Amino acid sequence: MSHADDHAGTRRDFLYYATAGAGAVATGAAVWPLVNQMNPSADVQALSSIFVDVSAVETGTQLTVKYLGKPVFIRRRTEADIASARETRLTDLPDNNARNANLADATADASDEHRTMDEAGEWLVMMGVCTHLGCVPIGDGAGDFGGWFCPCHGSHYDAAGRIRRGPAPENLPIPVAQFIDETTIQLG
Ligand code: FES
Repeated sequence: MSHADDHAGTRRDFLYYATAGAGAVATGAAVWPLVNQMNPSADVQALSSIFVDVSAVETGTQLTVKYLGKPVFIRRRTEADIASARETRLTDLPDNNARNANLADATADASDEHRTMDEAGEWLVMMGVCTHLGCVPIGDGAGDFGGWFCPCHGSHYDAAGRIRRGPAPENLPIPVAQFIDETTIQLG
């Protein structure tokens, strides 16, 4: 079996279909019976990665999936989201670090372009865990900056998931993620 075939098989086994509005979960426990039958390198990949079909995510909505026990927000942003995030001055950001695990430069600034999956800025993927004490922020344009709001102690995040006001010290972190085809995002 070629490497490409091997990868495709892994992907088929672990691909699951998530619909907008419904939480979709693939955890280690659920996949263990399959993993047992696979070779060691596939084990490692399967346990650390999940594949999310985002074809049903409409503009202006967010899909929440669980990854390594934590929620991940996958937001398909509107033109207004993108414009407001890109017009924001970096000097207005309490945390001017991209917090993006996909960037080679860990000191990259928090410009919107450094946080989105695609150049156009349509897709934003980030951990749904408040950087203050770990609550799950509310989305859909919540808060005073048109992004997310954490009701626990009042942290406001903007349309790029950057902290703007409240006790949270950092922007919502962006996990390792990539599009592997037009409608599938690999996390991990
Ligand atoms: S946990 Fe979010 S503001 Fe405290």
